[in-house]
Amino acid sequence: MKPVKVGLLGLGTVGGGTVNVLRRNQDEISRRAGRGIEVVAASARRIDAPRICDTTGIRLTTDPFAVVNDPEVEVVCELMGGVEPARELVLRAIELGKHVVTANKMLIALHGNEIFRAAQDRGVMVAFEAAVAGGIPVIKAIREGLAGNRIEWLAGIINGTGNFILTEMRDKGREFDDVLAEAQRLGYAEADPTFDVEGIDAAHKLTILASIAFGIPLQFDKAVTEGITRITREDVSYAEALGYRIKHLGIARRTAQGVELRVHPTLIPERRLIANVDGVKNAVLVMSDAVGPTLYYGAGAGADPTASAVVADLVDVVRTMTADPENRVPHLAFQPDALRDLPILPMSEVETAYYLRLTAEDKPGVLADVTRILADQDISIEAILQKEAPEDETDIPVIILTHRVKEGRMNEAIARIEALPAIKRPVARIRVESLG
Ligand code: HSE
Repeated sequence: MKPVKVGLLGLGTVGGGTVNVLRRNQDEISRRAGRGIEVVAASARRIDAPRICDTTGIRLTTDPFAVVNDPEVEVVCELMGGVEPARELVLRAIELGKHVVTANKMLIALHGNEIFRAAQDRGVMVAFEAAVAGGIPVIKAIREGLAGNRIEWLAGIINGTGNFILTEMRDKGREFDDVLAEAQRLGYAEADPTFDVEGIDAAHKLTILASIAFGIPLQFDKAVTEGITRITREDVSYAEALGYRIKHLGIARRTAQGVELRVHPTLIPERRLIANVDGVKNAVLVMSDAVGPTLYYGAGAGADPTASAVVADLVDVVRTMTADPENRVPHLAFQPDALRDLPILPMSEVETAYYLRLTAEDKPGVLADVTRILADQDISIEAILQKEAPEDETDIPVIILTHRVKEGRMNEAIARIEALPAIKRPVARIRVESLG
């Protein structure tokens, strides 16, 4: 059988990695797919740019529409990122009846509902394993491997750059900006690195995970997103003293009132496996009713790891090219007419435990005032840690761990604590999850 002809949109880190992996493992890949997979055309912003792959035998162009419209191209692989023109190109490929593989989390999180509807109508596949957690086959695991379960919640370290920064701050005491610059040099960070550090990239991925876990439409606009830029080295070490690690987590949880969809720095007990996922690695912990907790771990970014997911999608597409569209795995795991529009909870309704760091005058009665405010809001304290004043300062840091409480109630307590004359700075607040 003749090889399947692929057109690549984008020849950067992921595109170059895809060419390399397809070439290096061509024999294994065709034994699995039943046919060879050959890149025949590719678009790039600059034809003469330095590349990580050999482009011999690939028709190069600066016009991505030329690749999509190329009659020889049977499968379009969108690896350019961003929303436009990626959205238009993917819709055009679908219109032409071509299958699509994409690594574009923003595109799927923002426009997946429209894209999957178009693909469904045209009977083509849109595969997106590489969009979440790089090389970890977590989409396949949730969509297919856990299909017998009711999934209760999932929590993931799904941005490698953010995890790399937090790890280096903890292990080596390095400064935030210095580590971010290194992540950019290594090709992990997004084109706009605020997407990494402000949690937007993780929210794109979480939106996708929540949809396939709970069978709900993609709703990125309702995700709550908080970044890691306000985490200090002191918070990292106080958390350690209390037996916790700070991780930037994406959490999706099904509750009786609706679905929680939130990305924020989180204290998690250091004994949890996921608390020990370091550097650019990603991990997704899924709690399901039948199997219990399962953890998916691996490289979340980089050329070859992301290419691993892209090529796996290509193999899936090739295997099912001749299958009846009705019998394919649905894009969002649940049949399109069985998706449920469950409400997404506002953050004020979400219940978590809290780490609070106060900067207080060192005098009698201050802690009593603080604990009285917490008691008035029915917030129970789990631990208090008072540290010495840092050099050249008279005010002292006080760390409080609380039991679970709705965020709305905690907001009121924090406002009252900040109004105390002896409290000198805004209260630093980090949510705590036991992930038990
Ligand atoms: N910027 C992303 C990360 C790349 O750091 O995880 C992979 O999606």
